[in-house]
Amino acid sequence: MGSTSWNIRVSDATFGNGYDTLAMVKRVADESARGCVYAIDIRNDALENTSSLLEDSLNPQ
Ligand SMILES: C[S@@+](CC[C@H](N)C(=O)[O-])C[C@H]1O[C@@H](n2cnc3c(N)ncnc32)[C@H](O)[C@@H]1O
Repeated sequence: MGSTSWNIRVSDATFGNGYDTLAMVKRVADESARGCVYAIDIRNDALENTSSLLEDSLNPQ
C-alpha cells in the first residue's frame, strides 16, 4: 500500500507508544491529507506518549 488519493480510514487498537499509529498515518495520509487513522488505548500515559510522538514526528519545530 503506497501513497494514494483515496479517502482511506484505518484503526489502531491499541496505540501504546504510538509507533504503529505513526506508521499508519504515514501510509494513509498523502499530500491531500484525506486519510484518517482512528486509534484507541486505555492508558493515559499511552495517550500522552502517542500525542508527543505524533506531534514531534508530523509537526517538527
Ligand atoms: C503491545 S501495546 C501496543 C503497542 C503499540 N501498537 C505500539 O506501536 O506501541 C498494548 C496496549 O494495549 C493497551 N490496552 C490493553 N487493553 C486495552 C483495552 N481493553 N482497551 C484499550 N487499550 C488496551 C495497553 O494500554 C497498551 O498500551
